[in-house]
Amino acid sequence: MRRIFSGIQPTGIIHLGNYLGAIKQWVEMQDKVDESIFCVVDLHAITVRQDPEKLRQATLSTAAWYLACGVDPEKSAIFIQSTRPEHTELGWILNCYTQIGELERMTQFKDKSNHEKTGTGAGLLTYPTLMAADILLYQATNVPVGEDQVQHVELTRDIAKRFNNLYGQTLVVPEYSTKIAGKRIMGLDDATKKMSKSAPSEYNYIALSDSPEKIMQKVKKAVTDSGTQIQHDTDQPAISNLLNIFSEITNQEVTEIEDQFLGKGYGEFKIALGQAIIDFLAPIQAKHNELMANPQHLEAILRAGSEKIAPLAQKTLSDVKQKIGLINL
Ligand code: TYM
Repeated sequence: MRRIFSGIQPTGIIHLGNYLGAIKQWVEMQDKVDESIFCVVDLHAITVRQDPEKLRQATLSTAAWYLACGVDPEKSAIFIQSTRPEHTELGWILNCYTQIGELERMTQFKDKSNHEKTGTGAGLLTYPTLMAADILLYQATNVPVGEDQVQHVELTRDIAKRFNNLYGQTLVVPEYSTKIAGKRIMGLDDATKKMSKSAPSEYNYIALSDSPEKIMQKVKKAVTDSGTQIQHDTDQPAISNLLNIFSEITNQEVTEIEDQFLGKGYGEFKIALGQAIIDFLAPIQAKHNELMANPQHLEAILRAGSEKIAPLAQKTLSDVKQKIGLINL
């Protein structure tokens, strides 16, 4: 039985890194596995302060991007994390089986904890145990994510193994898969840091919702390296990143694109890349707009997703409670 689980935080912007690192894999895998579950992780989003109305909107919009990019509700369950109370229940239990030191070592915690204007909430520290609960509740065998989430899946594996060692086989220890060339999509304004929705400048990322003009402007402004060749090379991280994006968007090999632009300049390459992204996103944006125009339909899909997976979540939680000595009434 192969079951995949993954999720994205609804923080307002879904960018090309999220698509190429996560959603693209999901769409490919949903046809190959027995079951696929994709969650909009709104409880993870509130680890930093959110505007309530914007969060509600972003939650629906994130689900709409899943669908617009090709996640098929006939094949995959799509749901909102906070609509299934088992996540927070198991999250609490797993907190009691996780060391503070393990959580403090998480790179994402270290990156985020000193930067919040409102201080570092406890949720930011315990974020990975909630993520572990998301995955373990559904006994997922595989978690398709971008490379930046691998450390969290490793911790999930450790927590599951620890629990099984203490109480006997209860939780499936999940594998993870990361797909994209170069492992992660880097910022357009700084190829040493990952493309990120929390980047200080919007020139760091291409949002799936960006207009054609904005996309072209952002690609033209993207930093390039000191060389002149359009070649994938460790000495040329910026052009290598643009080549990775080009390759992933058009499903061409990097070498094919290099051949195509042999002897040509960065300017010409960037215009072709910008146009490829615009053409790729146009039908996805149209579908997203259509879905957002009919929130009842979207909510019905999310409700059906939540109902479909409920028995699985309830069963795992009840097994866990039984094992640790809580009373299931
Ligand atoms: P989040 O919302 O930050 O990112 C969602 C997905 O996008 C991937 N990603 C990238 N991939 C390649 N290059 C990039 N620059 C890039 N930026 C983001 C992420 O790796 C991720 O796959 N904690 C998770 C959400 C989560 C989750 C889960 C994921 C909560 N519970 C259970 C999997 C399973 C997060 O914050 O992802």
